Amino acid sequence: MRKAETRQQRKKVIYRSACLSFLLAITLTFLQRGTNPGRFLQDQQLSQNAVKIQKEETSFPNSFWETRKLEMTEATEEQVKTWDVTTITCTANSNFTTMDWFKELEPNFQQFLLYRHCRYFPMIINHPEKCSDHIHLLIVVKSIITQHDRRETIRKTWGKEKEVDGKKIKIVFLLGTASKNEERANYQKLLDYENFIYGDILQWDFLDTFFNLTLKEVHFLKWLSIYCDNVDHIFKGDDDVFVSPNNILEFLEGNTVENLLVGDVVNNARPIRRKDNKYYIPKTLYNKNHYPPYAGGGGFLMSGSLAKRLYKASEMLELFPIDDVFLGMCLEILKVNPINHKGFKTFGIVINKNSKMNKEPCFFRSIVVVHKLLPDELRHMWDLVHSNLSCSRKLHLL
Ligand SMILES: *[C@@H]1O[C@H](CO)[C@@H](O)[C@H](O)[C@H]1NC(C)=O
Ligand SMILES: *[C@@H]1O[C@H](CO)[C@@H](O)[C@H](O)[C@H]1NC(C)=O
Ligand SMILES: *[C@@H]1O[C@H](CO)[C@@H](O)[C@H](O)[C@H]1NC(C)=O
Repeated sequence: MRKAETRQQRKKVIYRSACLSFLLAITLTFLQRGTNPGRFLQDQQLSQNAVKIQKEETSFPNSFWETRKLEMTEATEEQVKTWDVTTITCTANSNFTTMDWFKELEPNFQQFLLYRHCRYFPMIINHPEKCSDHIHLLIVVKSIITQHDRRETIRKTWGKEKEVDGKKIKIVFLLGTASKNEERANYQKLLDYENFIYGDILQWDFLDTFFNLTLKEVHFLKWLSIYCDNVDHIFKGDDDVFVSPNNILEFLEGNTVENLLVGDVVNNARPIRRKDNKYYIPKTLYNKNHYPPYAGGGGFLMSGSLAKRLYKASEMLELFPIDDVFLGMCLEILKVNPINHKGFKTFGIVINKNSKMNKEPCFFRSIVVVHKLLPDELRHMWDLVHSNLSCSRKLHLL
């Protein structure tokens, strides 16, 4: 649950610059690699394993932009389990449309309830091979199709895939489809290409809207249960946060908690009943006075084994429109308490915009995650934190 407002104006600029920078990047890549007539789309098998293609330096997809659609959904190797949803068979649930309480609801909540039973959608882009090695830390980032520049910045900073002392760190981005019609065709093509280069996109065939964030949560939990038996820990967060992987690794070093979920935990939060609030929840949807304890969705850390148990718990619940509260409900079923940690700042510092901390590299060095930064701010701070920084005033957060 975020407390900051979305800024339409800025977004527009970002979209435009994202588009431009992406095209520029492609042009540069093209020039650097030279032109070697594309085997990419002539060879059906190649398209089924993006990672393999990436390693072949000489093959460049000349004809990439001329073809309609990439098929990256099936794995060639034998898989014990695969994503089993391949068609959308979901119609509106008209069971309660005649009821008074339903008629009184706001249209967006009506829409939510009509389709709440549509639980799983087909995958458009999958990477069944992502967890084929033992992974120490899987970084999982919620993103939307238009935020290419954020993903690019994350890959270059805190989300870089690497190996530290034999411990592998990998990343995936979670996406639905473009929520606006006019964005769909062009952005999908760009996303396919981005995935072709980096091999780190997971995409499902549902609209990327605010109320569908919980769908993203359950899709990821299901995906993890199918494909990732070898993941020790998961960091899950937004695409506009600053994260310190070193501090996460350091934290995990001394950790022995079995069902670990640590983050910016909210206890006794009350459902918001003011209709003009982004997080408004009508009583017909949730009539208790408090939510169970939950960790802010901006960034939290959990053990891989707990994530699997959370998937099972999620299947026992109806979807709830706020994703981090929904995860709190799953934790409640499992009787697992999320642990609060001062290094996770997913609500705090945005509210006090003028806080000195916002510009203090030593603060950023000491935290695990901070909400919320634009790509250029993020990269600047990352460079500062990893420069020859001498922090005189000790900040003991960890
Ligand atoms: C609608 O109600 C019927 C009868 O109670 C039930 O069988 C069905 O599953 C309900 N539909 C949905 C989508 O929940
Ligand atoms: C969620 O995605 C589905 C599938 O694209 C769509 O039908 C539905 O309207 C979306 N729900 C909301 C609340 O946006
Ligand atoms: C970092 O600081 C140390 C000590 O102040 C200095 O010896 C070293 O050259 C510096 N390194 C860089 C890359 O600036």
